[in-house]
Amino acid sequence: MARVALVTGGTRGIGEAISKALKAAGYSVAATYGGNDEAAKKFTDETGIATYKWSVADYAASKDGLAKVEADLGPIDVVVANAGITRDAPFHKMTPDQWQEVIDTNLTGVFNTVHPVWPGMRERKFGRVIVISSINGQKGQFGQVNYAATKAGDLGIVKSLAQEGARFGITANAICPGYIATEMVMAVPEKVREAIISQIPTGRLGEPEEIARCVVFLASDDATFVNGSTISANGAQFFV
Ligand SMILES: NC(=O)c1ccc[n+]([C@@H]2O[C@H](COP(=O)([O-])OP(=O)(O)OC[C@H]3O[C@@H](n4cnc5c(N)ncnc54)[C@H](OP(=O)(O)O)[C@@H]3O)[C@@H](O)[C@H]2O)c1
Repeated sequence: MARVALVTGGTRGIGEAISKALKAAGYSVAATYGGNDEAAKKFTDETGIATYKWSVADYAASKDGLAKVEADLGPIDVVVANAGITRDAPFHKMTPDQWQEVIDTNLTGVFNTVHPVWPGMRERKFGRVIVISSINGQKGQFGQVNYAATKAGDLGIVKSLAQEGARFGITANAICPGYIATEMVMAVPEKVREAIISQIPTGRLGEPEEIARCVVFLASDDATFVNGSTISANGAQFFV
């Protein structure tokens, strides 16, 4: 039977590419989203992949939503915590709300997504946890104290989960994309985008599919010994 993969924020941007790549690799895929019904409908019409709506920032909603996915598709074998947001501001102007919203979505959202499916993975002695972090969690970024804190925290999550899950056949890894051509990045002013590209030795933004291929590898049986690691996919912009 096909393994079941869940992708949070799987209807747009990098998550959309991940959902499609996992489906193409033979997984039974569920994609979640937070509020954009129109994009989710378009995604399902194009791909045939089922979508589910809940906020990853809400533990009870995540638990219920994940249970519904498992009732529909079967136990979740691969969980890709991809949903994320930015609320950028220089630190002296950052509001507590901007801080909290990003923490709730990008950091607590990973806990809320993985924690409910973790016991099942332990019981079945198989699981793949893949968290989409960011280059800015590795190096920090002006105007992103909140975002960088969450993305660095995500790396701590996978390194710890890797140690707890290893003897149960569960791996936990992170991917740190550099700048990828999604709405999140295309929304910044063109001048800023050009400045970003000038800092990427490869001379271009990454494509969502380039991140999706990393996910397919980490989810596969080929990656059984890759555990607690971080794949940096950033066009040589930053080395850890
Ligand atoms: N783009 C980049 O260059 C880049 C670089 C490094 C890391 N990343 C990371 O990669 C991930 C995807 O980024 P992206 O650029 O593809 O983002 P995106 O195009 O803005 O898509 C974000 C997805 O996450 C969902 N989402 C947002 N908040 C949510 C919530 N509270 N609950 C459930 N779903 C929620 C959105 O749902 P709706 O459609 O309903 O809004 C959407 O499906 C993020 O974690 C981001 O931090 C991106």
